[in-house]
Amino acid sequence: MTDRLDESQLREHELRNRSGWNADAPNWVDSGRRNWASTEPTWGMWEVPESELKLLPDVAGVDAIELGCGTAYWSAWLARLGANPVGIDLSERQLETAAMLQAEHELQFPLIHASAENVPLSDESFDFAFSEYGAAIWCEPEAWLAEAYRLLRPGGRLIFLGNSPLVMLCTQETEVNEEEDCTAQELLRPQFGIHRLEWPDEEEVSFVLPHGEMIALLGRIGFKLESLTELQAPEGDDENRFFVPRSWARQWPCEDIWSVVKPSI
Ligand SMILES: C[S@@+](CC[C@H](N)C(=O)[O-])C[C@H]1O[C@@H](n2cnc3c(N)ncnc32)[C@H](O)[C@@H]1O
Repeated sequence: MTDRLDESQLREHELRNRSGWNADAPNWVDSGRRNWASTEPTWGMWEVPESELKLLPDVAGVDAIELGCGTAYWSAWLARLGANPVGIDLSERQLETAAMLQAEHELQFPLIHASAENVPLSDESFDFAFSEYGAAIWCEPEAWLAEAYRLLRPGGRLIFLGNSPLVMLCTQETEVNEEEDCTAQELLRPQFGIHRLEWPDEEEVSFVLPHGEMIALLGRIGFKLESLTELQAPEGDDENRFFVPRSWARQWPCEDIWSVVKPSI
């Protein structure tokens, strides 16, 4: 792991997210190990197989960056598919898990300790940028999307997955208890003004934008929208994944996958 974190540049939410994710990192080792060992990449909390969604471009030979890689299982899959991935994360503890899993799988790629809002790498050095619940929800949208745009070469693509605005409108700002339904079948907060989210039992700060605002932001930065995929949970036992009951996610999208391109000049 290479430490390139400029602590003096971290803003309040980044300091909180680094501290929160360092404390939480041990709780993500088992799922990281399971995901590293899976036979194909899967998307999001309901683990929808890529073979069903077919959202990944051909990544053979491309330079790829995962923004907020966590345990880096997606980077591992990009490497297995022939890409040259680099994983960036704000939490040194999460990167320690990623390095441990690299050693277990004898699969090495660079891991950089830095914030996705201020990436210490050159302009236009990647063909593909990616985030699954990394920068996509833990970074301020304006900041990390502008960084992703800067890092991509013309013609490069960014794919990111995060919570849908709808699930956040239906989720209370109360203590998250996975045993109980936290996501309701009614709107619990206004959409206008939704941006930064905090939870009473968590140090971390996350972000979400309504679809219209996200489309406007992507356009202002210069991205061209390719697709927005609203994920449906697959059939299965009635269970909660984090704060979302499967019965909810069978009826409404709790996760969005955005695919955008930096136009060629
Ligand atoms: C849910 S995890 C990563 C998802 C990954 N797919 C996984 O499950 O291992 C979210 C990650 O985002 C990272 N993160 C939060 N804020 C960040 C920032 N500003 N820059 C880079 N990474 C950040 C956290 O440290 C954490 O490792």
